[in-house]
Amino acid sequence: MELLDALNWRYATKKMNGQTVPQDKVEKILEAAHLAPTSSGLQPFEVIVVTNPELKEKIQAIAYNQSQVTDSSHLLIFAAWDKYTDVRINSIFDHLNAERGLPDSSTADYRTRLIDLYTNQTSQQNFEHAARQAYIAFGTAIAAAAELKVDATPMEGFDSSALDSLLNLSEKGLKSVTLLPLGYRDESNDWLVNLKKVRKRREEFITELN
Ligand SMILES: Cc1cc2nc3c(=O)[nH]c(=O)nc-3n(C[C@H](O)[C@H](O)[C@H](O)COP(=O)(O)O)c2cc1C
Repeated sequence: MELLDALNWRYATKKMNGQTVPQDKVEKILEAAHLAPTSSGLQPFEVIVVTNPELKEKIQAIAYNQSQVTDSSHLLIFAAWDKYTDVRINSIFDHLNAERGLPDSSTADYRTRLIDLYTNQTSQQNFEHAARQAYIAFGTAIAAAAELKVDATPMEGFDSSALDSLLNLSEKGLKSVTLLPLGYRDESNDWLVNLKKVRKRREEFITELN
């Protein structure tokens, strides 16, 4: 499907039918998130995939009881680094250099600048920056799902502190940012499925400076 057709087809599904998304499609959606660009290539977030029904029920209770959490096939949780550290930044560049067969000296100055920049910010500033990177992957995953005709509901409607506690995310130095239930629309019970997709008028959205 062409990208624009896929983006018109998708919508923030309100009711899913419980059908399972084949694993190869889930893998493609995860790979799209994995390939998303990030600032300095740091990928300062992780994606947690939940299929366990009891765990999904616990998450639903802290997500305003939104039905997609339990009716989805796979629930993706995008969780960002709570802060940048020299260990985290060095590990990204060590991996990059090893994969490319380059000496550590090739990125030494750049990584020192990054470590200086981020470790002089507050943890909150670090987390907000990391969360912005997670949103790029989140959006990419949404588009990838649509291209595969898999429904997905982007979600910020949950108690992130409660989810962090439930999943012990602080032990991993992570904080939850967004949820993305994947599944299939329940056409007969979803109030949104047949409503027109509406966006701002083009002139309110695009400014052309010629
Ligand atoms: C970051 C973000 C958070 C959202 N949170 C929720 C949510 O918690 N629950 C929900 O049903 N929809 C949620 N939405 C869906 C939006 O309301 C929806 O994307 C928007 O109204 C545009 O409609 P469309 O996605 O159907 O085209 C969220 C969307 C985004 C991008």
